[in-house]
Amino acid sequence: MRKICFTTLAIAAPFFAADLASTPPMGWNSWNKFADKVDDKTIREIADAIVSSGMKDAGYVYVNIDDTWEGERDAQGNIQPNSKFPDMKALADYVHSKGLKIGIYSSPGPKTCAGFEGSYQHEAQDAKTWAAWGIDYVKYDWCSASKVYQPSEMQAVYKRMSDALKATGRPMVFSLCQYGEQDVWTWGASVGGNLWRTTGDIKDNWKSMSIIGFDKQTGHEQYAGPGHWNDPDMLEVGNGGMSRTEYTVHLSLWAMLAAPLLAGNDVRSMTDETRDILTNKEVIAIDQDPLGQQGRRVSKDGATEVWVKPLANGDLAVALFNRSDQMADVTAYWPILGIDGKHKVRDLWRHVNAGTVRDGYSADVPQHGVVILRIAR
Ligand code: GLA
Repeated sequence: MRKICFTTLAIAAPFFAADLASTPPMGWNSWNKFADKVDDKTIREIADAIVSSGMKDAGYVYVNIDDTWEGERDAQGNIQPNSKFPDMKALADYVHSKGLKIGIYSSPGPKTCAGFEGSYQHEAQDAKTWAAWGIDYVKYDWCSASKVYQPSEMQAVYKRMSDALKATGRPMVFSLCQYGEQDVWTWGASVGGNLWRTTGDIKDNWKSMSIIGFDKQTGHEQYAGPGHWNDPDMLEVGNGGMSRTEYTVHLSLWAMLAAPLLAGNDVRSMTDETRDILTNKEVIAIDQDPLGQQGRRVSKDGATEVWVKPLANGDLAVALFNRSDQMADVTAYWPILGIDGKHKVRDLWRHVNAGTVRDGYSADVPQHGVVILRIAR
């Protein structure tokens, strides 16, 4: 009897957001590549490919189904998947059997952005259903909620789902998606968010990626940390709209931002080049550094920028970015980084030690390119 009592207590024990997303969540999401073409078979094949390609070893663990999985509610109001997903519990079991985790998507409104069934007035019921399926991650997208709620209700609406998820006793990462409205970074964590989108949707081109990554994250740094992250949206690496060099900027910038790394490509058929970008463990280590400090721009000269991110062991991650259309010589001067003396420098895309350097480090950086460094201290 006593034992049963203890077991119950353990299941109901509170968990804290930082346990769930102590570093920025890493995984994959269906939307950028598949949109409404996602189904059970695709998710299983993607899970297989995440393991066989080395993505799982590099840290990508969440396999997230975005919009268009939802079907009708049954007579009791329980949400059912549509015909593309015959058995969600079986799918979750399959993904778990690969050592991965599974995510799902809904809206606080009556309909999702793609017009499918949302969680409006079924919040606790849906949270229980997802927990029973074995879901580990929920993206909650405002969309049609704007038709049934006032803007002033937004925080309470997000908290309602966060509380419902917690009440299930199953830890589920809670991802807020409301495009950065009402300065979400200032309150996202207080309503239980583990991450929150800071902008509208990313597109697979240099302009969209660079505006979101370079220009729209500044000023939010203090709100990111273990358990709660600014989310500049999912990765487009490998989707074809940018050059190899531009995709290295995409991953480097997201790593400097301590951003969630949710790959958005077809992992089953990616090129070696795409895989090498997504699985660069030295760059991923910058993103996943346990200090959890979001990096910031420390200097800007025309179209070149130097960014710094302090790391847990005292090292600095430093990125030399060139946003221009020509090669540029970019220098990170030590005083700008707050250091002096001689320091060992490692180049994280070339995977080489670049010497022990005094005063600063200069590099020729290709157009729309980056050199990302780890500076020992
Ligand atoms: C919104 C979100 C996207 C995606 C779609 C799905 O646009 O911002 O990330 O989830 O909805 O309909």
